[in-house]
This record gives sequence, C-alpha cells and structure tokens, in this order.
Amino acid sequence: MELVEPSVEYKDSFIEAVKEYKSEAESEPIRSYRNLSIQGLEADFESFVERERSHAEGKNQQEGYVPQTEFWLVDGGEYIGHVRVRQRLTEHLLQIGGHIGYDIRPGKRGKGYGNKILALGLQKAREMGIEKVRITCDVDNVPSRKIIEKNGGVLDSEIPNPETGVNKARFWIENK
Ligand SMILES: CC(C)(COP(=O)(O)OP(=O)(O)OC[C@H]1O[C@@H](n2cnc3c(N)ncnc32)[C@H](O)[C@@H]1OP(=O)(O)O)[C@@H](O)C(=O)NCCC(=O)NCCS
Repeated sequence: MELVEPSVEYKDSFIEAVKEYKSEAESEPIRSYRNLSIQGLEADFESFVERERSHAEGKNQQEGYVPQTEFWLVDGGEYIGHVRVRQRLTEHLLQIGGHIGYDIRPGKRGKGYGNKILALGLQKAREMGIEKVRITCDVDNVPSRKIIEKNGGVLDSEIPNPETGVNKARFWIENK
C-alpha cells in the first residue's frame, strides 16, 4: 500500500470508484468525484490526471484555493482513495478546511484504509515542510474523528459551520 501521484495506470479502478460514488445514498455528502462523467474519463483519462496533478502548481482550481498536492492511495495496483495536502493555510482553511483532506472510495471503507491514508498523508506533509497540521472534521463524522485522534490529533475547538449547519471539530497535529 502506498501513496502515488495521480496516474493513468489506475484508470480502470478509478472509474470503478467513481461509479461507487455515483451510487452512494443521496444523504451522503456530495463529493466532487460523483459529478465526473464516466464517458469523459473513459475517453480521455490522461487529461483528467493532468488536471488533478496541476493543482499542486495552483492551476485549474476554484477562485481562492491555495495550491494543493494530491496523492492516490493504491493497494495491489488498485485505486483506494485520495488525500490532498494544501500547501499553506488561508483564514478559511484555518477555520474550516484544514491542511489535509482525504476520502476512501465507498467500496473500501471500514477496512483500515482511512487510518493509513492520513498517516501517509502526514508523511507527505512533513516532506513538504508542514510541521504543524491543521485538520478538521464534522462533529458527526465518527470514523474521521477516530482517524484524526489515532494520528495524534489534539482537539483545539468546535465551531459552528454556517455553510453546512454542522459544527466543525478542529485539531492540531504536531508533525516534526
Ligand atoms: C472518513 C473515511 C475516510 C473513513 O475511512 P475508512 O477507511 O472507512 O476508515 P477506517 O476503516 O480506517 O476506520 C477508521 C475508524 O473509524 C471506525 N469506523 C469506520 N466506519 C465507522 C462507522 N460507520 N461508524 C463508526 N466508526 C466507524 C473504525 O472502526 C476505525 O476505528 P478504530 O481505528 O478505532 O478501529 C471514509 O468514511 C470517507 O472517505 N468518508 C467520506 C469522506 C470524508 O468524510 N472524509 C473525511 C473528511 S474530514
């Protein structure tokens, strides 16, 4: 199991993962991958991969986003999930988003991959010089909270998140 840069090598299992996101219950949070076109990915996966990689240079991102480096967790040659390391904090990231975001594909959840993706993501953040990591989760996201605590997260505070109506739990992780 390892983190790799987005690569065309994982096309088939990545597309399977997108199908899993699309069939998730409507009550699940809307994830960007759910909106990807299977047809588009089948036709030109290389452009998709290039776009994902270009975010590390701050390209092809929403207004106000800082450069973020994306890695894919792969196991046995298959796409399992992704982690994004934001290269610096904005006020919004400090309050709500944090340095690191992660997601395990629906079909692979509950198998320990979440704990592993954050551990490996923290190593990448260390290599990128991020010695103190801000990390957050919704207060009702039980698995994510366990993952953060298992990886050394110390609760700082919980604040209302007007964007969702669900409070955010905010942690720091010493990452030297
Ligand atoms: C949160 C997420 C990454 C967890 O991934 P995962 O691979 O299922 O996590 P793990 O299997 O490593 O489980 C982590 C812990 O949560 C527990 N857990 C897993 N699913 C659970 C559930 N539905 N309810 C309660 N606890 C759960 C596990 O037992 C484990 O605890 P332990 O280490 O004490 O045994 C995954 O659910 C996901 O991608 N969710 C959508 C995106 C998201 O919420 N990302 C985090 C944003 S902050």
